[in-house]
Amino acid sequence: MDKWVGKIAVVTGASSGIGAAIIKDLAKNGVIVIGLARRAEKIDEIATEMSSEPGKIYSCKCDVSDINSMKAAFKWIEEKFQKVHILVNNAGVSFYEDILDPSDDRTERLNEVININFTGLVHLTREAFRLMQVADDFGMIINVGSIYDNMIKFPNTSSIYPATKYAVRALTEIIRQELIVGSNDKIRVANVSPGIVRTNIGHASGRKDADTFYDTRPCLEPENISEGVIYMLSTPYNVNVTQLTIKPVGEQF
Ligand SMILES: NC(=O)c1ccc[n+]([C@@H]2O[C@H](COP(=O)([O-])OP(=O)(O)OC[C@H]3O[C@@H](n4cnc5c(N)ncnc54)[C@H](OP(=O)(O)O)[C@@H]3O)[C@@H](O)[C@H]2O)c1
Repeated sequence: MDKWVGKIAVVTGASSGIGAAIIKDLAKNGVIVIGLARRAEKIDEIATEMSSEPGKIYSCKCDVSDINSMKAAFKWIEEKFQKVHILVNNAGVSFYEDILDPSDDRTERLNEVININFTGLVHLTREAFRLMQVADDFGMIINVGSIYDNMIKFPNTSSIYPATKYAVRALTEIIRQELIVGSNDKIRVANVSPGIVRTNIGHASGRKDADTFYDTRPCLEPENISEGVIYMLSTPYNVNVTQLTIKPVGEQF
């Protein structure tokens, strides 16, 4: 990770779970990290906890489902740091209710999940790429997908979630190809697909069995995914680990 010391990383969904573990590990490795989330105060708490590490953590309040909020965040990043080297698109929510329910409530909620998990990620990537070009240096974009980004169990009980993650995985390869066509050989792009990780995602999404869910099956910890992200970043610049699937031992999916 020596090559990333002093470089600038943006991590979305940094206030909890996998994103919180990633910003901690990046700071331990000397990276300057900007954590994005709606609960910026949670990132400030992590920054205080990690203040003796070689890197530094900054928080930036941002709702990734809101284009104006995202643009404001990147305006602040540009003014303060001028450039970006690493983007980890990690913010995400799950959702378990039927897609076909015609209610307005459902319309709103489905749009929100699509906007957070996919549309927001598309525009964040565009904003970060703009500042990666300013850096004119090596860079990496890592998207956090899911094991649901290339399989759907029958019957599907994860609603629109797998569709958003399939889209993220496809987008990762599309961006990789767009970079090649644009003769950009300094920026790598990759997708990491975690199995079940013990985080707050079930509670955050109103899952009724969130308390007991993790106790009844094999689980990863957020740090296991962060270690995967650090591994992808650590490989030499000419190596692109484009896809990393991480499951707990014994996961049945
Ligand atoms: N846990 C799992 O089993 C699992 C498995 C596979 C993949 N994943 C993926 O891993 C990623 C992280 O999830 P997690 O498990 O760590 O869940 P988590 O603990 O609930 O964390 C989710 C993060 O996303 C942020 N977020 C949600 N909506 C947002 C919005 N509108 N704007 C900005 N940030 C938003 C949250 O921040 P605020 O609420 O503060 O905004 C929080 O920091 C997600 O993409 C998820 O799909 C998780």
